[in-house]
Amino acid sequence: MNIDSARLTASLDALGRLGAYTDELSGLQGVRRLAFSKEDGEGRRHVVAEMKAAGLEVTIDRIGNVYGRRRGRDDGAKPVMAGSHIDSVATAGRFDGCLGVLGALEVVKTLNDAKVTTRRPLVVAFFSEEEGARFGTDMLGSAVAVGRIPLERAWGLSDADGKLVKAELEAIGFLGAADERLAAPHAYVECHIEQGPMLRAANIDLGVVTGVQAICWHELIITGRSAHAGTTPMSLRADPGVAASRVQLLLRDLVNCGRFGADLRATMGVTRFFPGLVNVVPNRVVATVDIRHPDDGVLRRAEAELVEEYEQIAADEKVTIVHRQTARTPDIAFSTKVQDLVAGAASARGLSMQRIVSGAGHDCQELARLCPAGMIFVPGEYDGISHNPRELSTPKQCADGVNVLLDVLTTLAEEEGP
Ligand code: GLV
Ligand code: MN
Ligand code: MN
Repeated sequence: MNIDSARLTASLDALGRLGAYTDELSGLQGVRRLAFSKEDGEGRRHVVAEMKAAGLEVTIDRIGNVYGRRRGRDDGAKPVMAGSHIDSVATAGRFDGCLGVLGALEVVKTLNDAKVTTRRPLVVAFFSEEEGARFGTDMLGSAVAVGRIPLERAWGLSDADGKLVKAELEAIGFLGAADERLAAPHAYVECHIEQGPMLRAANIDLGVVTGVQAICWHELIITGRSAHAGTTPMSLRADPGVAASRVQLLLRDLVNCGRFGADLRATMGVTRFFPGLVNVVPNRVVATVDIRHPDDGVLRRAEAELVEEYEQIAADEKVTIVHRQTARTPDIAFSTKVQDLVAGAASARGLSMQRIVSGAGHDCQELARLCPAGMIFVPGEYDGISHNPRELSTPKQCADGVNVLLDVLTTLAEEEGP
């Protein structure tokens, strides 16, 4: 059996038109479907309609996760689940997350065409606010589904405008009634773009994902004192902008110091200056820090050092730095059984592959708490650029990944047992 590559491409294009915007810098068309926005609502309704058209029974839970179920021959057996997310960052392409959801749906359509019913039910899932780009905590929907984050805490998160998760879910019609705690599936498999340069540079067809590195996010609120930029002597200033810049340089120093090995990654992705005027020393800066490492213990040491340094910088610059951990996940190892199934399916199809640790966070790392779980990575063009309108995996690259997804899902779905 093979999936229909043209149908998969058309399906990615169709979803990519919902929330499309023109990127101010590049002039390219990108995707902006922030979680629970009007555009996310449109994307969700589109995918739900596609699920129903493919004969799936759709359930929506209380954090807005959506599950489309296909009956099995032994319909009481635990289902095999596949999926990802369709929410996006504000400057996204068409593939991040969507490939895993529409790819799983393409597997269902392929089985429908071939009139194949698997022993176990199949479930196509998409999870809420995977990006954390709006409400600040990534993998939110899947983390609630596996019990890592309580529903009430998730509902209470707010975006930059003070809008709450629960109200926003309700506003787009996706505050479902189903229990948010997911019963353990038999297995979970996610096909996703690599979002990095490795596979493409090595000319490898697919990545067999061994796990996900540990991730830590901080939000910093740095408070100083506003003053006139021309009249206030430098010695009298308490400038939170200078403190934010020092934190930014500190991140680079932590990466380069050698004490955390070669694999520490550190990014300051947000700095917002208030009042944000050319001739006013700011009184407040909101900034974010993202640090990651394949080893949770190393990440913990890096975070401890960072927090100590915040205090030093605050004292030096006569500002206060209040930090809040907005996301924290340990490194996760994926099931070796699922890894071997992915590798076996790839080699049976004559595809080259490489084992790879994911640098990005994924819903699969949450599902791995419930059941054997694993991922298939598809290479990307332009150094695998992602979270950017240039994000591109070719129809062939996508089809290779989804054909392997088909093979792995159908194998898992025939397995014996409850
Ligand atoms: C999710 O895309 C992440 O930040 O890793
Ligand atoms: Mn993703
Ligand atoms: Mn992403």
